[in-house]
Amino acid sequence: MERDPFERLNDAVTDCTRCRLAGTRTRTVFGEGNVHAQVMLVGEGPGHDEDLQGRPFVGRAGQLLDRMLESIGLDRSDVYIANVVKCRPPGNRNPEPDEAEACLPYLRLQYALVRPRIIVCLGAVAARYLIGPDIRITRDRGKWTEKGGVWFLPTYHPAALLRDESKKREAWQDLQALSERIKQLS
Ligand code: URA
Repeated sequence: MERDPFERLNDAVTDCTRCRLAGTRTRTVFGEGNVHAQVMLVGEGPGHDEDLQGRPFVGRAGQLLDRMLESIGLDRSDVYIANVVKCRPPGNRNPEPDEAEACLPYLRLQYALVRPRIIVCLGAVAARYLIGPDIRITRDRGKWTEKGGVWFLPTYHPAALLRDESKKREAWQDLQALSERIKQLS
């Protein structure tokens, strides 16, 4: 039987050795969710818990992300979640540019398959690679950009909200704007 394109892509990621992160990962973190989702969420890369479990956003930041989605009536089965890099950068450092460039073709294939109407960039790393290299998240969060019929929304990474509670109000505004955009598009 013909295999699912997501499964084939996941297998390629599982075996990937395109960059040095392959040497330190426990598991690859491909991404998961509704493959027909209108909304795709993109983080920067797996952390400690994700590296152990092989699933995106399962640690503390992920639990906050679940609550944020819930606050606008969404859960994981409504969205697709992936990361810029599929392997954990050691010590949770940001991915190096060559690591991100090596990995981005996988993400591009994921969004070509999902074909979301909206991509939410969680944090500066995702926003810079997906929207533009000059993005500054404190300045540019909440500003929508449309590219090829897809709406991109940069917002704070949930881990940043855990570190600095004062950012939660703006993150809440971004969630409301996301909810409005979803309504407009459906
Ligand atoms: N942070 C991310 O950017 N992605 C995850 O999957 C988990 C934490």
